[in-house]
Amino acid sequence: MRRLFAVADLIADRDVHVIVTCGTGGVGKTSVSAALALAAAESGRRVALVTVDPAKRLATALGLEHLGGEPQPVPGVSGGSLDALMLDMTQTFDDAVRSHAPRNRVDEVLRNPFYKALSTSFSGTQDYMATEKLGQLYEQAQATSRWDLIVVDTPPSRSALDFLDAPARLDRLAEGPVLQVLAPSSGPLKLIGAGLSQVTWLVSKIIGSKALADLQVFASAFESVMGGFRRRASAVRALLSSPAAAFVIVASPRRAALDEARFFVGQLRERGTTARGVVVNQVSEAVSLSPDAQAALSATPEAYRWWRTSWVTWRAQRARMLTALPTALPVTLVRRLGREVTDLDVVRELGSALVEGAVLTEEDDGPVGDV
Ligand SMILES: Nc1ncnc2c1ncn2[C@@H]1O[C@H](COP(=O)(O)OP(=O)(O)O)[C@@H](O)[C@H]1O
Ligand SMILES: [Mg+2]
Repeated sequence: MRRLFAVADLIADRDVHVIVTCGTGGVGKTSVSAALALAAAESGRRVALVTVDPAKRLATALGLEHLGGEPQPVPGVSGGSLDALMLDMTQTFDDAVRSHAPRNRVDEVLRNPFYKALSTSFSGTQDYMATEKLGQLYEQAQATSRWDLIVVDTPPSRSALDFLDAPARLDRLAEGPVLQVLAPSSGPLKLIGAGLSQVTWLVSKIIGSKALADLQVFASAFESVMGGFRRRASAVRALLSSPAAAFVIVASPRRAALDEARFFVGQLRERGTTARGVVVNQVSEAVSLSPDAQAALSATPEAYRWWRTSWVTWRAQRARMLTALPTALPVTLVRRLGREVTDLDVVRELGSALVEGAVLTEEDDGPVGDV
């Protein structure tokens, strides 16, 4: 028998303030994140659920008309509270400028054409923005006690690891040749900051004096914003490698999803982090029947065939899970529900299944005859 991944213990653990789910697309990662967040909220925690997945499904499942970049209370939650938001990359970038740029320059910077160009390309990088957003939320959570748990539904598959690596890559980016040139303290723009030199005179002849003025605004604000980004990113990196953060892997019983789960375990370990456990979602249900019960059932061929098919499916799934998942990794199984996750009741049902937990057994649970 594999160790059970006790989701109930995880959400009851008051030292855990961030839960990050990772897994390949289509396994039900967004649904499981929502279910986990709802279960935690209804057990009394104050939860923010942030999804990096732009799929509209989550909003529908939570009964929200629209899911935007601002935390929005989910109605119908009892016990604690649940706020949901979807990563809005442009908004996150603008918020970053608001908090990192010199206060009296914020509007000027946001209107600056160079800034707009940069933010269009930079804010398109989901992992930096997800990191920044998590940092913003965590800071807000600490300052206001509005939340004591943040659940992060990462983008599908391996880009979830980009999210983990974002702080380090941001450092490299900031130290890279492009930004060295742009940064006022170290590149040619320092000359611009210093006043109208021969160089700036020449630049103004080439790009025009309006553009030069814009460039000066951009250059002077750039370093503080970049610095703010990097500070936040390293705070997030420290948070994610602390005991306050827990990583949950979501998979399905399909081979590719299970292989991906094992890949995640390895990748997390390389980064010095241990996955708390894996949720194998959408597992087929099967009932084990004694030989007598099987014999009795075979009197009704249709029912017997149905039972036999479900049993064969389950055994194949179990064999794949046992082969693909590392022995030390705690596992819990969640059955495939009879319906799509399209409203809060179904999210709650999924949450109950998670909290209840179902162990992955290694032996057959019952006699299976010739199946
Ligand atoms: N346990 C489950 N039982 C039945 N349907 C599920 C279950 N989990 C997820 N689904 C469905 O699977 C589909 C994909 O779910 P979603 O959470 O969007 O996956 P992902 O975020 O991994 O791409 C959705 O249609 C959802 O309703
Ligand atoms: Mg998703």
